[in-house]
Amino acid sequence: MKSIYELDLENKTVILRCDYNVSIKDNKIVSDERIVASLDTINYLLSKNAKIIIMSHLGKIKTLEDKNNNSLYIVYERLSELVNAKVIFSSATSGKILEDKIASLNNGEILLMENTRFEDLDNNKESNCDPELSKYWASLGDCFVNDAFGMSHRRHASNYGISKYLDSAYGLLIEKELKGLELVVNPDRPFVVFMGGAKIEDKLDIIKMILPKCDYLLVGGGVANSFINCNYNVGSSLYNNEKKDELLDLLNTYKDKIILPVDVRVLNNDMVIERELYQITDNDNILDLGTKTVYIYKDIIDKANTIFLNGTAGKYEDNRFEEGTKEILNIISASNAKSVVGGGDAISSMEYFNIKDFTFVSTGGGATLEYLATGKLNCFD
Ligand code: 3PG
Repeated sequence: MKSIYELDLENKTVILRCDYNVSIKDNKIVSDERIVASLDTINYLLSKNAKIIIMSHLGKIKTLEDKNNNSLYIVYERLSELVNAKVIFSSATSGKILEDKIASLNNGEILLMENTRFEDLDNNKESNCDPELSKYWASLGDCFVNDAFGMSHRRHASNYGISKYLDSAYGLLIEKELKGLELVVNPDRPFVVFMGGAKIEDKLDIIKMILPKCDYLLVGGGVANSFINCNYNVGSSLYNNEKKDELLDLLNTYKDKIILPVDVRVLNNDMVIERELYQITDNDNILDLGTKTVYIYKDIIDKANTIFLNGTAGKYEDNRFEEGTKEILNIISASNAKSVVGGGDAISSMEYFNIKDFTFVSTGGGATLEYLATGKLNCFD
């Protein structure tokens, strides 16, 4: 695909795909990093006097209730504060209301369309990259700019389908991400990867591809629990059991690379206890790394020349379980190695603890991992 600089954008109606899949808590955006990250491309399009139609997904939409909980209106409010142009919102993702709003748009103005995944209530049309929906959305503009880096491991109608029917290019955020991620695609060794967090299913396949490329894999959160589950009881913790055999294979094949926790911090009937792995009971919920584990991880991180961190070490928003996540971030930011942090949860934790001294912060989670593992972005042929 071409770069945005190769498109003729002057006075055109441009469809811009962003990734505004931000986490929202108590009706507030936890981190506006992804919205801020889209501004370079938006400002470039405004400098070309374009009309901009922005599309994005938010969350997963399977029921009407999901729809009520995942409106992009809150993003529209933040975007309006951040850009120096009129922004309007379309609550419709197709049909006359959307088309009339687009018709009312002047050059140098922006329309943010409601969550593209609202179309998933109709046979998963967005997520299954329905050709009719792709063609319809493409018909709304003169050209297409894909800048949804965080989404680039997916091929959905709004980030991939549209590009089949319009003159298309990638935006400035994607360009910046690919440059920043060079550090971990061709890393200086030793290369240490820390992987934590909750989206276990998504991560396990990626771990397989990353292991041959890194020197050490340190694990935390649900990823660690799934590995621990291969040999110990994990009580009521979050873990994946379906891939247990595959994980056992990985532990055998990469026994010198995969570094598991030796102790953990658990919640047991309102009590917070540090346990060695063999001490974990059925009533324990593992919510953080233990003290010894953090020391061991520090030793390994201190030897690295390149570090990549994705996900968190535990339930850091609860101060009883913040130590692991906070310390790992502190250790990496104090290290002389090149460091890359990727993914919404990791970014939120960085902001939560105000630890920001990293070489590059990527807006992508799954996308960054896939790029790291394969060197490719799935949404580009
Ligand atoms: C992300 O946050 O990883 C991207 O926006 C993709 O979201 P998804 O996992 O819901 O497809």
